[in-house]
Amino acid sequence: MSKLKETPTRTLVVTLVLCLVCSIAVSAAALILRPTQQENALVDRQRAVLVIAELWQPGMSSDEVREVFSSRVTPRLVDLRTGDYSDAFDPHTFDQNKAVADSALSSMIPEDRDIASIRRLEHYAVVYQIEQNGELERLVLPVRGYGLWSTMYGFVALQSDLETVAGIGFYQHGETPGLGGEIDNPNWQAKWVGKKVYQDGEPVLRVIKGSVNPQSPQADYQVDAIAGATLTANGVTHMIHFWLGEDGFAPFLKKLSAGEA
Ligand SMILES: Cc1cc2nc3c(=O)[nH]c(=O)nc-3n(C[C@H](O)[C@H](O)[C@H](O)COP(=O)(O)O)c2cc1C
Repeated sequence: MSKLKETPTRTLVVTLVLCLVCSIAVSAAALILRPTQQENALVDRQRAVLVIAELWQPGMSSDEVREVFSSRVTPRLVDLRTGDYSDAFDPHTFDQNKAVADSALSSMIPEDRDIASIRRLEHYAVVYQIEQNGELERLVLPVRGYGLWSTMYGFVALQSDLETVAGIGFYQHGETPGLGGEIDNPNWQAKWVGKKVYQDGEPVLRVIKGSVNPQSPQADYQVDAIAGATLTANGVTHMIHFWLGEDGFAPFLKKLSAGEA
């Protein structure tokens, strides 16, 4: 039996071929799994909308999430530059987070106005309306802002008066579990329900340090701190002020409540 002689060239060729085969395998796996990952991400977002809209039941399967979402939730596209509804894209498929990276679909936020530290703002946002007998019951708004370590992606739901919080929730962030990660704690999220966003037309709702004094005239505009996570909590406050302010959804909310959106 002839023995192949080991030479540096042969070793290099074998290594290169092995690298090539492995990288093709990894790329193919990534390509094949991408649609599933995208579908899972979509269902995750839909689930987050259902949770905040109180339409989610524990143990719901992905199919049930899709079903309830499509029967109870109406996604609408809003032009953030004008505050009007838009039909420039299909709100069911428009990827707002992807649009941020597209210079034709987003623009830089001037530094002094970028209070949520998100750098770019998309031209269009997808909002989710929950209606009952043709009347708006809840409006779910997508929001994001930088915490301590990461951009926190979530939703704020407003009641039909468009200024009382119906819920808050996050579907993606990289804050520390047990500290900033407590933004996912249902007990903390419950403290937002019923809080008021606007005072004299300005978004003032904020997470304070310590606990809210229920006797304080500002109590309706304040949410308890998360212990050991002031920096993440400040990020949540900045996120609220940006997205419910003039550069975010305020123009749309004004038009919607005047019936002009
Ligand atoms: C490893 C590590 C992770 C931390 N993660 C967070 C975090 O996710 N969010 C946050 O606000 N603070 C976090 N902190 C704490 C901050 O550095 C800071 O002390 C805290 O925000 C102050 O909050 P307090 O005023 O409630 O104590 C972390 C600290 C350490 C050492």
